[in-house]
Amino acid sequence: MKILISDPLHEDGIELFKSEGFEVEVNTGLSPDELHKVIKGVDGLVIRSATKVDKALLDAADNLKVVGRAGTGLDNVDIPEATKHDVIVMNTPGQNSNAAAELALGHIFALSRNIARGHQGLKSGKWEKKQLRGREVKGKTLGIVGLGNIGAILAELGAGVKMRVIGFDPYLDAEAIKARGAEPVSFDDLVKEADYISIHVPKTKETTGLFNADTFKKMKNSAFVVNCARGGIINEEALCDALDAEELAGAALDVYEVEPVPAEARILCADGVCCTPHLGASTYEAQVNVAVAVARQISGYLKGGEPEFAVNAPK
Ligand code: NAD
Ligand code: MLT
Repeated sequence: MKILISDPLHEDGIELFKSEGFEVEVNTGLSPDELHKVIKGVDGLVIRSATKVDKALLDAADNLKVVGRAGTGLDNVDIPEATKHDVIVMNTPGQNSNAAAELALGHIFALSRNIARGHQGLKSGKWEKKQLRGREVKGKTLGIVGLGNIGAILAELGAGVKMRVIGFDPYLDAEAIKARGAEPVSFDDLVKEADYISIHVPKTKETTGLFNADTFKKMKNSAFVVNCARGGIINEEALCDALDAEELAGAALDVYEVEPVPAEARILCADGVCCTPHLGASTYEAQVNVAVAVARQISGYLKGGEPEFAVNAPK
């Protein structure tokens, strides 16, 4: 049986497939047309966020049984269409959550202490010791939107640095939110009360543009927002306008409406924005975890086992 790996995957995952007797083709950075050719005869497809699994790719596939996401987000997969094509879709929940939560906390500190601005200033010959006075996070309110795998870890990290942690998640009851380390609040209260807002929800119809012009107006002028979840959950144009109007103090982004984000994009030039290039899961540990997990899950399924972490159920 054949596995196609169309986005970068750690060697440990590739070796696991080979040791289970699969033929493995690693072919990354392909255009849709190229992908439509190489998908022929493939039983299992391994992706991260770059490959778009849409109707055209599923139509082109003649033998595909399973798509495995080495990571969490499945917004690049048309799941209903996969179901129609009898293709199981699975992800590897939890395997990169610590990495993403640590990056969110890193961004909180970077914003609070002007780390990126200090670095940039020094490189251009400026010693901005007075201008870049920061704030401490101790005693401040951290508002977490989405208390799933990553949100729960961030809640623990936030408490560890002595923040008050509040959380909003409409799919969890109050007890579950408390058990994940946050005080349950409404979305409106979270936006109004938080000194730092960190977003950890999937990108869905409901969460696209969740942070828009109205949301920013409700935030404290001294507050920061961090998005290490998915581009588009924050409306970038509205964020730039709100930063210009000083409706909030700053923002940190790891994910963008368009990736790779174009160098001339307004969001990269906005004052008070600290950016990383989708690094949430880019740690050695997380990449080994997701690669081994996806290889283990796909091998198990293709060899007749029950699908693990499947998000659909073709008949
Ligand atoms: P998860 O499924 O474990 O948790 C998501 C949580 O969001 C769930 O508890 C769900 O109930 C909640 N939720 C859904 N809709 C909501 C809404 N409208 N308002 C509030 N809460 C809502 O997912 P996770 O592993 O914690 O991942 C969270 C996000 O982070 C996903 O978008 C994922 O793709 C992204 N992610 C990004 C990186 C990165 O590299 N930057 C790495 C890993 C995950
Ligand atoms: C994810 O959803 O798991 C992330 O976007 C991580 C990634 O694959 O870069």
